[in-house]
Amino acid sequence: MILVTGGTGLVGSHLLYHLALSNDSILAIYRRKEKLESVKKVFLYYGNNIDEIFHKIQWIKADITDIPSLSRVFSYPVTKVYHCAALVSFDPSDYKKMRDININGTANMINFSIDFEIEKFCFVSSIAAIGDSLNEKYINEDNEWSDDGSQHGYAISKYGAEMEVWRGSQEGLDVVIVNPGVILGSGFWNEGSGLLFKRVDNNFKFYTNGITGFVCVKDVVRAMISLVESSIDNERFILVSENKSFKEILTMIAKEFDKKAPNVKIGKFFTEFFWRIDWVITKLSGKKPLLTKNSARSSHSQSFYTSEKIKQIISHEFTPIAKSIALICQDYKLKKMNRQ
Ligand SMILES: NC(=O)c1ccc[n+]([C@@H]2O[C@H](COP(=O)([O-])OP(=O)(O)OC[C@H]3O[C@@H](n4cnc5c(N)ncnc54)[C@H](OP(=O)(O)O)[C@@H]3O)[C@@H](O)[C@H]2O)c1
Repeated sequence: MILVTGGTGLVGSHLLYHLALSNDSILAIYRRKEKLESVKKVFLYYGNNIDEIFHKIQWIKADITDIPSLSRVFSYPVTKVYHCAALVSFDPSDYKKMRDININGTANMINFSIDFEIEKFCFVSSIAAIGDSLNEKYINEDNEWSDDGSQHGYAISKYGAEMEVWRGSQEGLDVVIVNPGVILGSGFWNEGSGLLFKRVDNNFKFYTNGITGFVCVKDVVRAMISLVESSIDNERFILVSENKSFKEILTMIAKEFDKKAPNVKIGKFFTEFFWRIDWVITKLSGKKPLLTKNSARSSHSQSFYTSEKIKQIISHEFTPIAKSIALICQDYKLKKMNRQ
């Protein structure tokens, strides 16, 4: 039986669809029943006949920070684990919660997987847990992460989670780790990278000069399944299709929506000013911040990643970003038409 955590999120829901196409025995955890509707909506982007595929999944209510609920999960005959659950946030007020879910939650998953002699454990990490390149232009899997005081909470928590996974490998668990760049995919238009599509559709005009690695969610889940089904273990793999600037990504989306490309460049001075003002507003109003110090700084940083390792080891081919964006924009238009 395959166990998936984070199945109600972007990566997990696309992963569940692909797993359910060829597996009958899948267990997925959820926290709130209403999130199961989001999974069905993601499945609809793959076609209309989704009920049969959705019903192949057995859902169990659990929280990765709650050991009794995980005991119930591991009472099923689980053999392989895809651990996608995490809190993804750049809000400093989420730091403690992020440590708890991302580090302690992963430690719990690893401990149960060791105890129940799981055959393979796949962990979704992030490029945030990979260090900067010192001399080379491209960052690869060998670049060690180090906390020089400039790291944001999300990066610290993903690095801490990776450490738990490596501990598991030392204790005999076969693990693979994937480190995706910014993941683009259909379904969650009001959060994460989904907001890029929504904002461009709403005539968003601004861009920053940051550059980072981008990858389509379908490439991420294909790579995860191939790695779990392979004999490879105790390795990590960067998953980046192309390194692009935010301006290039927003321009590609604008082209697909027949909208004007963002043309107002936001400099560092403005974002440094804005996050401070926003910080005061959030303290006074108790609302979630629009821009945090971390997201402001990330939006300007320029990092280039290489995925040569996975291309060579399992001949994984990535979909070009322009093609992925075109397909995701088609889904977005469909969603607007059907008001999904
Ligand atoms: N999105 C990206 O651009 C990106 C890039 C690189 C790496 N990643 C990594 O990819 C993984 C999946 O990210 P995503 O974009 O799919 O995130 P997401 O859409 O925010 O989904 C997160 C998932 O984790 C679940 N979760 C959170 N806390 C949990 C807990 N305490 N117990 C059980 N489940 C919990 C959520 O459940 P609820 O639905 O109940 O909240 C949801 O299913 C994460 O590990 C993230 O760090 C993401």
